[in-house]
Amino acid sequence: MLVAEELLKRYKQEHIIKFLENNPKLEEQILSFDFDTIINLYNSVKNRKNLEASIIEHMPYTNKEKLSEKETKELEDIGEKIIKQNKYAVITMAGGQGTRLGHTGPKGTYKINTVNGPKYLFEIIIDELKKAQEKYGTTIMWYIMTSKENNDETENFLKIHNFFGYPSDKVKFFKQGEMPLISDDGKLLINEHKIIKEASDGNGSIYASLDRDGILEDMRKREIEWIFIGGVDNVLLKFIDPLLTGLTIEEGNIIASKSIIKRDAYEKVGVFCKVNGRPKVIEYTETPKDLAEEVDENGDFVYGDTNIISHLFNIKALEKIANKNMPYHVAHKKAEYLDESGNLIKPDTPNAYKFESFIFDAFEEFEDMTLLRVKRENEFAPIKNKEGNDSPETATKLYNNFMKRNLI
Ligand code: UTP
Repeated sequence: MLVAEELLKRYKQEHIIKFLENNPKLEEQILSFDFDTIINLYNSVKNRKNLEASIIEHMPYTNKEKLSEKETKELEDIGEKIIKQNKYAVITMAGGQGTRLGHTGPKGTYKINTVNGPKYLFEIIIDELKKAQEKYGTTIMWYIMTSKENNDETENFLKIHNFFGYPSDKVKFFKQGEMPLISDDGKLLINEHKIIKEASDGNGSIYASLDRDGILEDMRKREIEWIFIGGVDNVLLKFIDPLLTGLTIEEGNIIASKSIIKRDAYEKVGVFCKVNGRPKVIEYTETPKDLAEEVDENGDFVYGDTNIISHLFNIKALEKIANKNMPYHVAHKKAEYLDESGNLIKPDTPNAYKFESFIFDAFEEFEDMTLLRVKRENEFAPIKNKEGNDSPETATKLYNNFMKRNLI
C-alpha cells in the first residue's frame, strides 16, 4: 500500500490515496502504471508537432486497374504460393468501441441483410476465409484483436455460433492495451468501481499486444511470414490478397497498404504521403489546404490515396516495431468519474483527455512501403455511423452490388 501511496504523491495524484483503503485492485493498477509516460503525454497535449514544418511529398502507388493481365497474373502467382504454403495469416482488429454505430455489443456481432441472407460482420469475414480454404486448399490462421471490455462477449459469440463452420483451432484471440484518462488539470480519474478509469488506447497498440500475448511467437511457430491486418467493419475488405502480397514481395518491401482515391479535396479521410522521406498517413485535420487540393498533370489528386485500414506486414516488420513507443493522439472527451467524496459526476462538456495510438503511425519506422490503389466499389464499404454516410444502409447496398456484379 505504501509504495502505491508514494507513487501517487510523487506524481501529484494525492486525490486517489483515500480510495486505496481495502482496495487491492486499485493498488495493483497503480503499481502497473508507467506514470512517467502518462504524465509526459498530458504535458505534451499543448505542445503538438507542427506538420507544416516538415517536407511532405507524394507517395508513389500502383494502380490495380492499370496493371496488364500478364503483370497481374505474375504478381498473383507469387502471392498465391505464399498462401498455399500456409505462410499467410489474417488479423481482424475488433477492439474498437463502435460508439458512432451505437450497437450494443462488439461491432462484429452486428447483422446486415445481404443478398445471401442476414449476416453478422464476423460471419462475412468467415465466408471469405472459407472461400480461400476451397480456392487455395489451406486453412488460413485468423487472429482477432479484442479489448478488455469486449473480449469475453466476442469469444462467446463466435463459440455459440460454432465459428460459423470455420475450424476453431485456426482462430486465436488477443487483447489490445488500455490507457488511463486524465482530467483537464492533470489528474487521473476514479470510476464507479473505485479504480482508475481506463479506456482502449487505439488500434496502434496492436504491435505491442501481438508480442505481449504471444501471437508473434505463435506465428513464428507456424512459420507464418505475411500478415494482413484490417478492421472489422468494412464489409468489402479483401483481406486475402495474393496481388498485394506479390507486389510487396516484388518491390522488396516488408509493409504495404491498399488505398482508394478520395472523393473530393476535403473528404474527411487520412491520406498516404511521405513526410521527411518516410511513409505516413496524414489526417485531414493535419493536411494543409494547398496540399489537399493539389492535382497532377492528369487532374488526379497528388495527396488522394485514402487509408482504408487494409494493411499487409511481413513478420519481420511486426517484430521490428513490437517494442517501439507509438505516438499518441489526444481526444478531449466527456468522462464520468467519482469526486473525492465518492459522488458520481456526469460532465456536460469534455473534461478529460483520452490517448489513442493509430496503426498507421508505425509506417514511418520503415524507409518505404508498397501502396496499391484499388477501386472503392470493390473494397470499401465501412459501417461507422448509425445513419447517413458509412452506415449499415450504405454498406449493405455496396456489399450487395458487389456480390451481384461478381455473381456470388
Ligand atoms: P474506428 O477508428 O472506426 O473506431 O476503428 P470504432 O471503435 O470502430 O468506432 P467509433 O470511432 O467508436 O465510432 C477502426 C478499426 O480499428 C479497430 C476497430 O474495431 C475497427 O475495426 N479499433 C479501433 C481497435 O481495434 N481498437 C481501438 O482502440 C480502436
